[in-house]
Amino acid sequence: MGKVYVGMSADLIHPGHLNILNEAAKIGDVTVGLLTDKAIASYKRLPYLEYDQRKIILENLKAVKEVIPQETLDYRPNLKMIQPDFVVHGDDWKEGIQKKTRQQVIDTMEQWGGKLVEVPYTKGISSTKLNSALKEIGTTPDIRRARLRRLIQSKSIVRIIEAHNGLTGLIVEKINVEVNGEIREFDGMWASSLTDSTSMGKPDIEAVDITSRVNNINNLVEVTTKPIIFDGDTGGKVEHFVFTVRTLERLGVSAVIIEDKVGLKKNSLFGTDVKQYQDSIENFSNKIRVGREARITDDFMVIARIESLILKSGMDDALERAKAYIEAGADAIMIHSKEKSPDEILEFCRKYGEFERKAPLIAVPSSYNTIYEDQLAEAGVNIVIYANHLLRSAYPAMLDTARSILTNKRSYESNGNCMSIKEILELIPGTK
Ligand code: SPV
Ligand code: MG
Repeated sequence: MGKVYVGMSADLIHPGHLNILNEAAKIGDVTVGLLTDKAIASYKRLPYLEYDQRKIILENLKAVKEVIPQETLDYRPNLKMIQPDFVVHGDDWKEGIQKKTRQQVIDTMEQWGGKLVEVPYTKGISSTKLNSALKEIGTTPDIRRARLRRLIQSKSIVRIIEAHNGLTGLIVEKINVEVNGEIREFDGMWASSLTDSTSMGKPDIEAVDITSRVNNINNLVEVTTKPIIFDGDTGGKVEHFVFTVRTLERLGVSAVIIEDKVGLKKNSLFGTDVKQYQDSIENFSNKIRVGREARITDDFMVIARIESLILKSGMDDALERAKAYIEAGADAIMIHSKEKSPDEILEFCRKYGEFERKAPLIAVPSSYNTIYEDQLAEAGVNIVIYANHLLRSAYPAMLDTARSILTNKRSYESNGNCMSIKEILELIPGTK
């Protein structure tokens, strides 16, 4: 009997996992290297269960002697520490994402004569299928709400995109791409005031009231499970903001972002082309404080958005406000800019990085969109929001189709813009 090492995520334990662990237990004492949330989030979605929950499940399995954290996808640090006689893994990693990891395991184990044992992949069970089944069951407001904080802790940068109705919510929920073995997806949704208003044919001036905005949230929560960040505009009157906080929190929204402007709000991307006024530090800090006091749970985040760069009140003002808002309890800071170049945002990030007391940082690269997520993460940004892109990309196609039908007096020429009738009928499960 030897020392056996098995690396796993163990989020949705199924007979395939049990088979591997039982085979491993036949040849020795099994130590499971349980991938941490961070290790898993580095190449695919965050697990449903937290590390400690997954650990308890494994510790209660007969075949498992010990569970230790595996902090990276790379097995080597743990293997070198434990020097097991065997590593046991399913034989499904010979191709694809984990091929390189497999070779590293073989090479490392050779150093002390350890062997890799591969167990035939259990047919008829797939984590992907279990995952979609779970998504169909849905989630609870509590689980959804808490997920944003978990994501911030686990990911180098949390990727959020705008969703303004059920259909765009479904896109955010489901779309993923595989790039160099990493499965990339959006982590959550931004309920944008710009796209909520625009999709209703109204200006982005807080004219769409909170009740209508909340209706939109209801449409999102009915068909998705991912976290939602709500664009709360100015937050309105302090006395009203407390109700907004309570309502959003109850629905399972993870955060509200309010901006430090007063009076008739205009969209930030107008900058100084329109009259917009910034709130005093004192008033806005008070709004944050009152909003936070209204929460029932610690999971719900009240986030302060700084408009100093938008309104040209200067970098020093932006930094002073960031300090004050953190002092007032802001759970994160959003810094906005409408420059084409990311320079002023990067300067802000550098100076923010020197703060003694920091909160997670959010950037919205709508105008400075040449910057990559990795560069933002490197600069210390924790959340990136693609604030309006699904609406902005859908609208030109709709315009084009409408024009084509008018021009040609039939729809045939617009076929290229349109999904097929079969596709639209099959898009949403249950349509038939
Ligand atoms: C929104 O999406 O509504 C925002 C971001 O608040 S911005 O439009 O850039 O102001
Ligand atoms: Mg907005």
